[in-house]
Amino acid sequence: MSERFIPLIDQRHASGAAIAPELQGAPMPALGRLRDALGRPLRDLRISVTDRCNFRCSYCMPKEVFDKNHLYLPQSSLLSFEEITRLARQFLAHGVRKIRLTGGEPLLRKNIEALVAQLAELRTVDGCAPDITLTTNGALLARKASALKDAGLQRVTVSLDGLDDAVFRSMNDVDFPVADVLRGIDAAQAAGLGPIKVNMVVKRGTNDHEILPMARHFRGSSIVLRFIEYMDVGATNGWRMDQVLPSADLLQRLRSELPLMALQASSPGETAQRWGYADAQGQFSPALGEIGVISSVTQAFCRDCNRARLSTDGKLYLCLFASQGHDLRSLLRAGADDDALASAIGHIWNARSDRYSELRSTQAPNDAGPRRVEMSHIGG
Ligand code: GTP
Ligand code: 5AD
Ligand code: SF4
Ligand code: SF4
Repeated sequence: MSERFIPLIDQRHASGAAIAPELQGAPMPALGRLRDALGRPLRDLRISVTDRCNFRCSYCMPKEVFDKNHLYLPQSSLLSFEEITRLARQFLAHGVRKIRLTGGEPLLRKNIEALVAQLAELRTVDGCAPDITLTTNGALLARKASALKDAGLQRVTVSLDGLDDAVFRSMNDVDFPVADVLRGIDAAQAAGLGPIKVNMVVKRGTNDHEILPMARHFRGSSIVLRFIEYMDVGATNGWRMDQVLPSADLLQRLRSELPLMALQASSPGETAQRWGYADAQGQFSPALGEIGVISSVTQAFCRDCNRARLSTDGKLYLCLFASQGHDLRSLLRAGADDDALASAIGHIWNARSDRYSELRSTQAPNDAGPRRVEMSHIGG
């Protein structure tokens, strides 16, 4: 069956589309103990620094939709580095420990290393440096890796959907060669941006034959390969359930050749289930490394979801599948002081009850409800 993409209705350009943060209510100072309505803490902040990308992955920014007529955000709509850093400080005060820079493609944002340097100065409520990481398609990584490391970036996650050059070129849909991404990964490793993770979105019938070659390639390399179930994120990719390869099937394919053992989660609320490669004696062999499976479709992990997302234009999204964000930029630009910002973030998180993936299984197929935000506006 041929692909069917759905035109984008970009709500960012409509006035009144965002939720105006509540400024009334009791002040809520940031004490690092924030919980949402389901008791989930706030630990992970994902910041989108640009809505642009030099790739056109069909599951994220299909080129039939994101074409030359697509309107990106104007520069004045983007949060400045100072605005991002000010907001990040309030999020850290509420308990955030990890900051992930995303896009679009974050390395397209001019002088991104200056933002990394500003964020690296911040501290968590425990007085530690936050874990600062970045998700990239790797195209510009060879050029940028050492400057990012020098600025204080700790590690990177690289998206890579296959090793076969023809498959990779067709999935990024801009004919970008896989060898350049592999060079970017090597440069990141040489710069000390590890442990490096590689994310592969698996689409049944498109790149599932690349699962085993990818596993063989990264086994024993200290790079953690993670397989992601293709998700119904955004509103343009024309997602269908029959294009999802359930992680259980994927693991079966891997284990037919490469023995694996279940590993403990390394942190609460982790997206991936970890599996370690076993040696000839059937024991986990750290030298062979591990893989992860991210099963958002078949095994939702909302129960412990501690992730907040800040869009390129300064809206706070409480779920990857949310249709509206809370407009923190307007508060910032109206002159709110730090206490007011912290209080607004506190109230918004307090009221959060999102658990889209858990509820998905109870909805009719493709009954999306209100139109969801695009992943390229809030990052993975
Ligand atoms: P680290 O393990 O600390 O590197 O971070 P992470 O596991 O959060 O990884 P990453 O940001 O690379 O996320 C991997 C992929 O998992 C994303 O690209 C998304 O496809 C998916 N993902 C991440 N967070 C969520 C989430 O909150 N909900 C859902 N449904 N999917 C998510
Ligand atoms: N399904 C699963 N993961 C996706 N990503 C983007 N779109 C999707 C989707 N539809 C993730 C990929 C990519 C990151 C930037 O976002 O992991 O590596
Ligand atoms: Fe760009 Fe990443 Fe989206 Fe692909 S998945 S289009 S590389 S932002
Ligand atoms: Fe978190 Fe929403 Fe993903 Fe569930 S679907 S894990 S609530 S971002």
